[in-house]
Amino acid sequence: MAEELFLPDNGSKVEIYESILPQIKGLTSIETDLIANLSNTCAVLKEAFHHLWIGFYLVKNDELVLGPFQGPIACTRIKKGKGVCGTTWAEAKTYVVEDVEAFPGHIACSSASKSEIVAPVIVNGEVVAVLDIDSDQLSTFDTTDQKYIEELCNYLASKWS
Ligand code: SME
Repeated sequence: MAEELFLPDNGSKVEIYESILPQIKGLTSIETDLIANLSNTCAVLKEAFHHLWIGFYLVKNDELVLGPFQGPIACTRIKKGKGVCGTTWAEAKTYVVEDVEAFPGHIACSSASKSEIVAPVIVNGEVVAVLDIDSDQLSTFDTTDQKYIEELCNYLASKWS
């Protein structure tokens, strides 16, 4: 089935999130496969915002393993507590990083990455994945992104299997 993404013309960040979140929910509600749904979620975010890198790392045993993503080749495994992603996992809270160079232990998968937001997907009190979004500009992400990305991660948690 062909799917088309609808985006507001010259929309603000809020307008774009308000437009795409129901579309992500629509797309994923008709599919039960987790990888398919995470893949389309990345595709929608990439098409809507054109950020450098958007992807999921999945908790597998004692590390994060690269999952569905859009963007350049990335690191495949991250230990708990390492980098922004591993710290998000360890602390089960969202990190909005205005300047990745200023984040102790930041893992530079791409030298083009300048700022990032990482949010956990939490199921039954356990982090099962993180959603990482990287920008090639400083200070791209703020509390608006945090609000909507957390809403998205909570929704994905409700569909996790
Ligand atoms: N920068 C992340 C690593 C993942 S890549 O950016 C895709 C981190 O510090 O955890």
